[in-house]
Amino acid sequence: MIMLILTLGLLGYASAYAEQSIHLQAKEVYHQFPFFDTKTPVWSYNGQIPGPLIRGKVGTTMVIDFSNRLKEPSSIHWHGLRIENAMDGVPGVTQDPVEPGENFRYRLKLEDAGTFWYHPHFNSSEQLERGLKGVFIVEESERQPWSQDWVWLMDDWLLQKDGTIYPHFNTGRDLMHDGRWGNVPTINGKFRPEYTAKPGERIRLRIINGANARIFSPHIKGLSATVIAVDGRPVTKFFTLDKFVLSPGNRIDLDVRIPEQVGGKTFTVEDRFTRRAFQLASIKVIPSEAVKPPDITPPTATDFIPAQVFKNIKVEKTWDLNAIRGGKFGIGWTMNQRLWPDADKVVYQLGTPQKIIFKNSSSRLHPMHIHGVFFRVLERNGIEAIEQFTRDTVLVGPRESVTIGFVPEHSGIWLTHCHIQEHAEAGMMTTIKVKK
Ligand code: C2O
Ligand code: CU
Repeated sequence: MIMLILTLGLLGYASAYAEQSIHLQAKEVYHQFPFFDTKTPVWSYNGQIPGPLIRGKVGTTMVIDFSNRLKEPSSIHWHGLRIENAMDGVPGVTQDPVEPGENFRYRLKLEDAGTFWYHPHFNSSEQLERGLKGVFIVEESERQPWSQDWVWLMDDWLLQKDGTIYPHFNTGRDLMHDGRWGNVPTINGKFRPEYTAKPGERIRLRIINGANARIFSPHIKGLSATVIAVDGRPVTKFFTLDKFVLSPGNRIDLDVRIPEQVGGKTFTVEDRFTRRAFQLASIKVIPSEAVKPPDITPPTATDFIPAQVFKNIKVEKTWDLNAIRGGKFGIGWTMNQRLWPDADKVVYQLGTPQKIIFKNSSSRLHPMHIHGVFFRVLERNGIEAIEQFTRDTVLVGPRESVTIGFVPEHSGIWLTHCHIQEHAEAGMMTTIKVKK
């Protein structure tokens, strides 16, 4: 009892043990894409594309009853959330696959506020591509008076002429390149949606890249946008959105200010990653009187794993990223010449700072993701490149090498892989085991 009172006191929440529970059911439904007369069979959570937006409060526990009504096994992984290892949703590593017709109860203690997402971790290149994904927001205990909170889950579908999903996965073409890039980019399942704002508003815009492989670099033409969080954690210093590379898995939270004199104007949001920019969405400012901009001070992170922690730490692991002939699809993607599950794995001690190098010996893109930790980019190609934020996914470009540092704070076996789903399925996965 004394322990309980103490904990409550320390956390400062009246509701530290509050629980919220929800259901997520994976099943096939039909979704209407633009340009097509027919409806497309998709795999969904609760019949929705994308899956339901989950909102929990930091310091509480979320119970999620997952039921699998697909014709194949599945699981749910909570991307970016630091949770108990047994709840991480990786079949063969943290749990058994959830068979068709079966259920699994996930119990998540929400320890970090921010923008996260969820998706299967079984036959992922197909299951995500067919639509299984959703956003998971953990609200701060103190709410800021944002005029609006927009959540944009970016996706990229490869649709055929009849509107159905191209049914061949992990093709040679996907594997020789940067995975499966589609022909219909969507935001929350819609093509080029239009959003409305009022002059004077300040909008929190959360952008999540949930695509299998496409990389986005969103740009809002004519409006200033400040990055306030990356991969679910507040930045240490705000910066202007400019050519930010949002690879599969990454999230950014933006503070978008609508000036008071722009009533009646429409602004375009475009992607600038590919050579030819294309429109993703538009923001229409209604011709009304300006609202008074709300007074908001987004939180910043203070010395969370400061860079000097890694000053005298030696690099103990370099993972060389490359392709080989072989594996189940004929082309394998390797980490140190090995294919999952015969991977080059590491074991670390809880609480001990670590440095890792991802060395890309190929000419393709590899957004490398580590489950259960936030890490910091320290160097690119051996040159200091300290970022004003931490991440859980970093893009390692062609022939580039990226040095990261992190402190493992949760024990268990944490999957580490390329977030281009086709590369991961073709072997580019390993684990970091953290022991007490
Ligand atoms: Cu989105 Cu294994 O991760
Ligand atoms: Cu890759």
